[in-house]
Amino acid sequence: MDMSINLFLYLFLSVFTFLLLRATAAAHLRRRKNRLPPGTLGLPFIGETLQLISAYKTENPEPFIDDRVSKYGNIFTTHVFGEPTVFSADPETNRFILQNEGRLFESSYPGSIQNLLGRHSLLLMRGTLHKRMHSLTMSFANSSILKDHLLADIDRLVRLNLDSWTGRVFLMEEAKKITFNLTVKQLMSFDPCEWTENLMKEYMLVIEGFFTIPLPVFSSTYRKAIQARRKVAEALGLVVRERRKEREGGERKNDMLEALFEGDGGVGGGGFSDEEIVDFMLALLVAGYDTTSTIMTLAVKFLTETPHALSHLKEEHVGIRLRKGEVESLRWEDYKSMPFTQCVVNETLRIANIISGVFRRAMTDINIKGYTIPKGWKVFASFRAVHLDHEHFKDARSFDPWRWQSNAGSATSPNVFTPFGGGPRRCPGYELARVELSVFLHHLVTRFSWAPAEPDKLVFFPTTRMLKRYPIIIQRRSLFDPCKE
Ligand code: HEM
Ligand SMILES: *[C@@H]1O[C@H](CO)[C@@H](O)[C@H](O)[C@H]1NC(C)=O
Ligand SMILES: *[C@@H]1O[C@H](CO)[C@@H](O)[C@H](O)[C@H]1NC(C)=O
Ligand SMILES: *[C@@H]1O[C@H](CO)[C@@H](O)[C@H](O)[C@H]1NC(C)=O
Repeated sequence: MDMSINLFLYLFLSVFTFLLLRATAAAHLRRRKNRLPPGTLGLPFIGETLQLISAYKTENPEPFIDDRVSKYGNIFTTHVFGEPTVFSADPETNRFILQNEGRLFESSYPGSIQNLLGRHSLLLMRGTLHKRMHSLTMSFANSSILKDHLLADIDRLVRLNLDSWTGRVFLMEEAKKITFNLTVKQLMSFDPCEWTENLMKEYMLVIEGFFTIPLPVFSSTYRKAIQARRKVAEALGLVVRERRKEREGGERKNDMLEALFEGDGGVGGGGFSDEEIVDFMLALLVAGYDTTSTIMTLAVKFLTETPHALSHLKEEHVGIRLRKGEVESLRWEDYKSMPFTQCVVNETLRIANIISGVFRRAMTDINIKGYTIPKGWKVFASFRAVHLDHEHFKDARSFDPWRWQSNAGSATSPNVFTPFGGGPRRCPGYELARVELSVFLHHLVTRFSWAPAEPDKLVFFPTTRMLKRYPIIIQRRSLFDPCKE
């Protein structure tokens, strides 16, 4: 009896001690682990959203980040678009976030954006399906495809577009026409025609819907966008059905749509459904169209404001034209012999930050740099903050293409320049965008001189763009009088 009580007590005590020890350890650990990055959450509900938006509506939004970085360091907590958000201006942390996509973090878009993208959009896909569709996209914009097929289309469509320029031109509009027509060609082999023009009109309405964050429910723009999306999806669906019929008759085309027909994928396997294909094509239009046309416009803006860079660029391209004559199309070797242009492309991507960073959601508690990001929290990996940090780029806020001639533009590690993101979701259009911009600049500087038609303003909210679509007055220049300015 005594014995058993003693045994019982002994067991009880040891179990109790064990539990007690474990509990204290856990509490201790939790306290240590639960250190949120410093920062303020601002007002209830709207948090710091208004400060962010008003900063991004000016030409210099940097103070929003600068102030917080100087107060709290490179990782801080804020509260934007309805949720507490951990903001990273640290290249190592950004890399960690991008590389751990699907394991520790997942991409995350508001419901309003998801409705516009469609259920089967690449941007919303996860897991193995995402992996397969991502590499399918890559294989349709990789360098050998660009070299063998796309470059010729890009060259032709850019020329065709520039042929129509006279007098006063809204650069942003023209750039949009070029990228839209090109994407349609790449996706389904259509040359510009009335059908593509109508599609573009509806499509522009869809794009506007993306700009209605953060309060889409109250917005008629958003409702129109949803309607327009339905029309675009219908039009694309018609094309898909028509092409399926043609395939049954043995006809094959060399485009993205063909690759999707051949793909074995789909949610249930056994080929993609029409709806999946349409969502996929819309995703490519969404991801490639606004970004590339904006980067074209901004490259011209920065060059116009930096005349010595522009004249250096002209020299390079006039040199190519003098070798080739006036009408011959650009070839891959020509693209590969534009070293200064590549510096201009990188510098434009660095300064412009079309995609200023990416949102992710923490899938579990994540410890990083002595802080904890709680499970379910939003994270924003800011590329912009890193690209414009003097620690990583000397005189980081001025446009200086020459910096790319020595040590790849950056003083520190190779991870600091990420205009196309990284990890499993790295932009599959990164090379396509570079080629489009290079070819556009080539034809622009060899055929025209220009000046801004009126002052315009660069803003960063809701997206990075020129407020007045960058109107310019153009003048044709003779190719073989390179000294004429
Ligand atoms: C200057 C032009 C461009 C920039 C700055 C850019 C930037 C980016 C960035 C940063 C991402 C990563 C998003 C994330 O991690 O959540 C991305 C994804 C993507 N981009 Fe681009 N992009 C450009 C042009 C294009 C073009 C021309 C295409 C057309 C093929 C394209 C197609 C895509 C697609 C499909 C994704 C989603 C990839 C995925 O989620 O797996 N982009 N882009
Ligand atoms: C590009 O993709 C094609 C398939 O579309 C593939 O055959 C080729 O090997 C890829 N090239 C490179 C350089 O990845
Ligand atoms: C491209 O598309 C636009 C709008 O749909 C159209 O007006 C234009 O003529 C097309 N062609 C070129 C070469 O830009
Ligand atoms: C431009 O940036 C890329 C990284 O995205 C790099 O690989 C390339 O070398 C850079 N180009 C130049 C001319 O520095």
